[in-house]
Amino acid sequence: MKNILVIGSAGQIGSELVPALREKGYFVVAGTSGRTPLPAHLADGPTAIVNLLDHDALLGTVDRFRVDTVFNLAAILSATAESKPLAAWDVGVNGVLNLLELARDRRLSVFTPSSIGVFGPETPHAATPQDTVCRPRTMYGITKVAGELLSDYYRNKYGVDARSLRYPGLISYVTPPGGGTTDYAVDIYWKAVQNGAYECPIAAGTFMPMMFMPDALRAAVELMEADASHLRHFNSFNVHALSFDPEALAASIRRRLPDFRLSYKVNPLLQDIAESWPDALDDTAARSEWGWRPQYGLDAMTDIMLDEIAKRIGKNA
Ligand code: NAD
Ligand code: SER
Repeated sequence: MKNILVIGSAGQIGSELVPALREKGYFVVAGTSGRTPLPAHLADGPTAIVNLLDHDALLGTVDRFRVDTVFNLAAILSATAESKPLAAWDVGVNGVLNLLELARDRRLSVFTPSSIGVFGPETPHAATPQDTVCRPRTMYGITKVAGELLSDYYRNKYGVDARSLRYPGLISYVTPPGGGTTDYAVDIYWKAVQNGAYECPIAAGTFMPMMFMPDALRAAVELMEADASHLRHFNSFNVHALSFDPEALAASIRRRLPDFRLSYKVNPLLQDIAESWPDALDDTAARSEWGWRPQYGLDAMTDIMLDEIAKRIGKNA
């Protein structure tokens, strides 16, 4: 891994992955579809307009910058995908296939995140095993299962170096999340600092797996840097860090903001999806095959989230 293209750099993960990779000394092209403006902080290195579905543009960028590794972050997340299922299929399946074909031709390494969205109501919810039932009810989840299978197919049949993680809900403060079921766990921090109160669309008692962005970035880089001979699962590894419900998150916030108020207006679409997802993942395979360890617990993440958001809106937290 030397010359990297990040597709979907303007999103929640990409806006932080590009600088993290550049800080490690990699040459990184920040790709954006052109519809979402690239954040200013990514302009300190090369950039390119890259639509995952545009084979020629993708090929041109890969050849121009001698790219050997692609982090493909383009997707339509779970909640938004339910109102745009065909577009979600297009980017999540046809886009991945397009990239895998290019990877086969140009011998690229490819990272396309999967998600807890691959699981469904029949999956065991407690310590969800690595190898288990993957029968999602959402279009997002269906695209992620297809993406995992396609990536393993290209790996086994053509020797493409495709690797992936099943990310939990990701929590960060740099760029807002892009329309997922787990977004409440980001919104709650902003509203806590701004208004001291939050109306939650997910019901009390609904546990989901979550992770702070620095852990998620490190996981992606460590997986792509791992010696392939030590890996067995490839597409896709469970990775676990945190599991909480809205009440536990509010309690963590109240350590710092004792007057914080949490109320509920449950969104049935989000709640249905949330209930179909695991509470927590068994990530033994990631731990044993490439040494995965999360670093951030709930309260440590809360402290950083509140401090960073307060700085950004000029308020004390
Ligand atoms: P995001 O929605 O914040 O960003 C995705 C970016 O992709 C956007 O900037 C969008 O404009 C771009 N994009 C969409 N279609 C494109 C196309 N055809 N060509 C090029 N770019 C396109 O998403 P994210 O949160 O950064 O997620 C990145 C990846 O990680 C996705 O595969 C997502 O499913 C996965 N993931 C995210 C989370 C999370 O909590 N954020 C959790 C699990 C998995
Ligand atoms: N955070 C993502 C979502 O809710 C999980 O893949 O869609």
